[in-house]
Amino acid sequence: MSSVGQEAEKPVLGRLVVVGIGLIGGSLALGLKAASGCREVVGVARRAQTCEEAVALGVVDRAVTDIAEVLPELEAGDVIFVSVPTLTVEAVFAQLKDRIPAGVTVTDGASVKGSVVAAAERVWGQVPDFLVPGHPIAGSEQSGVTAARDDLYIAHRIILTPLENTAPEHAERIQAMWRAVGAEVLSMPVGEHDEVLAATSHLPHVIAFGLVDTLAHDAENENIFRYAAGGFRDFTRIASSDPVMWRDIMLANRDAILKSIDLYTSNLDSLRSAIASGDSEHLMGVFTRAKAARDHFTKMLAKKAYTETMEAKEVIFIAQPGGAVNGDLRVPGDKSMSHRSIMLGSLAEGITEVEGFLEGEDALATLQSFRDMGVVIEGPVNGRVTIHGVGMHGLQAPPGPLYVGNSGTSMRLLAGLLAGQKFDTVLTGDESLSKRPMNRVANPLRDMGAQVEAGEDGRPPLKIKGGQQLKAIDYTLPMASAQVKSCVLLAGLYAEGETSTTEPAPTRDHTERMLAGFGYDVQRDGPRASLTGGGKLSACHIDVPADISSATFFMVAASIAPGSDVLLQHVGINPTRDGAINILRAMGADITLENQREVGGEPVADIRVRYAPLKGIKIPEDQVPLAIDEFPAIFVAAACAEGETVLTGAEELRVKESDRIQAMADGLKILGVNAEPTPDGIVIQGKGASEGAVFGGGEVDSLGDHRIAMSFSVAALRAGADIRILHCANVATSFPNFAELANRAGMQLEVR
Ligand code: S3P
Repeated sequence: MSSVGQEAEKPVLGRLVVVGIGLIGGSLALGLKAASGCREVVGVARRAQTCEEAVALGVVDRAVTDIAEVLPELEAGDVIFVSVPTLTVEAVFAQLKDRIPAGVTVTDGASVKGSVVAAAERVWGQVPDFLVPGHPIAGSEQSGVTAARDDLYIAHRIILTPLENTAPEHAERIQAMWRAVGAEVLSMPVGEHDEVLAATSHLPHVIAFGLVDTLAHDAENENIFRYAAGGFRDFTRIASSDPVMWRDIMLANRDAILKSIDLYTSNLDSLRSAIASGDSEHLMGVFTRAKAARDHFTKMLAKKAYTETMEAKEVIFIAQPGGAVNGDLRVPGDKSMSHRSIMLGSLAEGITEVEGFLEGEDALATLQSFRDMGVVIEGPVNGRVTIHGVGMHGLQAPPGPLYVGNSGTSMRLLAGLLAGQKFDTVLTGDESLSKRPMNRVANPLRDMGAQVEAGEDGRPPLKIKGGQQLKAIDYTLPMASAQVKSCVLLAGLYAEGETSTTEPAPTRDHTERMLAGFGYDVQRDGPRASLTGGGKLSACHIDVPADISSATFFMVAASIAPGSDVLLQHVGINPTRDGAINILRAMGADITLENQREVGGEPVADIRVRYAPLKGIKIPEDQVPLAIDEFPAIFVAAACAEGETVLTGAEELRVKESDRIQAMADGLKILGVNAEPTPDGIVIQGKGASEGAVFGGGEVDSLGDHRIAMSFSVAALRAGADIRILHCANVATSFPNFAELANRAGMQLEVR
């Protein structure tokens, strides 16, 4: 027997009457019995033989062929579960009419909810308050009472579609019933349920039944079935489901299913034409989009109908104390360059090949956005991506809002590009991104004549109205931000005249370099960058080096852990990104750059880092923009240094994926380090006078910020006890294999 019963301390209902003792009803009965979730199960089946079988199998305690026999015995707290084919539900309701004692709840398991509600209206005049329509999303091709299992519903979803007048007492009872058998209970409106199911379940069944029937009628069917491979078997599995049930569903959910069939037919028609005319681009478009969608299936569902799943995603890191890091490591590709390679490759003419692409969620969000705008993008496979550029004016309106998750770079750079398109777009993000300031890009875009609407306080979502003629501006940035600079320059591609940006301090210049790599003329003069709109991009080859921001975690790890010696391969050391190297060296770190070279217009080196005792410093303000993403890790180095480290001029850290000054100060204090936040920085009292432990153990919260999570993982190298780090799922945004590489290098990091 399974362990479904653990949750139910006392029975959640009195008697369960199962009308129709097949797989669905029988499995609920078995599950509830196993969970001690009810006092007694009474089965109702038309055939005496089914009744006998159900009792003999222990599925029900007793069974009757006529429901009228049990109705008089029922009392408040009992539940009648109607589990008959969809079109038979009405007949059962008619038998129940005027015979149900007060306080008894009725629910059902039919796959179409509109028809159940309509049946109830016909029988009762209006849907009674004790009826809670429901649909367990579970089943198998097997049917009948012999297939019933007590664990069928564990971790499966039940959709309830209560109506306005459904009494809460009854809805709660049915929720508790399903939870007792291990199911996850969701609610949605009747119409939405039927549309979602038409697309996700009913259409696939029509196609599977239809395909097998088509082939079965073929004169050579025997051969076809003999040679049918795994693909046929997987695809048509559902064609051996119960025909009566599926006939009923088709008839009961006619309108929604017809809509889905029409949509599918027109898609199939265009696939047919593409095959007929040898349109390989169209085929690749459909297949790559479909593959991506299939690969992200769970995630897609989470975003659409079943939001809870994503939010439930909690990852905890447990970093064990001590150790050192050693060996040759290649950290994943540069995040900034990966974003830009997709954006410019999509707008270029021709096919752009990218190598070393970061397969982290942020860059993938950008990739998905361009797929949503009709760009055919193959991969990524082992960091290789092939982008079939559509030209500056070839993007198409996406089917819905572009969701960019946690990625500020996607949202801010895309805003610039989208301001120049003919179509409207909406950009949305996750909880953290939804709190980040967007007026810094919306304001200059408005100056250029774009129509951009932000949410409350200039936060996402961003609504961008297409079809505006942009005009060039000379924009002096109020803060050192590569994202703002890039946004304005990208909008400038679509503006009339010469657009320029002037920055208060040098920030990463990958946009300027990559535009030049795609053959676009970008003028650069000190802090000023300018370009003239109306040009075009030509496809090219891009080799994305390893991300120095990710490499920094290992630079700090090696610098603080005695006995360390790592070689970080093929890292981008663009002078607008090398602040961490300069700062760590100023603190005494032993960092050497080997094999320096230029790859695709970007300087690259292998970085060798050996342990060396560090000392506290006053961090030069001119290094701040050059190390902007590396400060959480640098703070860990500062804690392990001898003496005080002072950071100023870094208020931008407060508006990153989290308030990184506060988040790090809080965590460092929990681990026993004196760290005082200031409005624009932090003062850290280093504890590294000796080689012993610097940090105590404890639990810190990364606040869902990838860089905070990885920084505290590194701190464990100099901790006296375990460091437990909460909310680490977003490490996947920039460094999906961090834990694996960390462990390979010698850290002991457990992911829960
Ligand atoms: C980025 C610029 C920086 C950086 C971010 C990536 C980019 O942001 O923090 O991780 O790719 O342009 P700001 O421009 O807001 O400083």
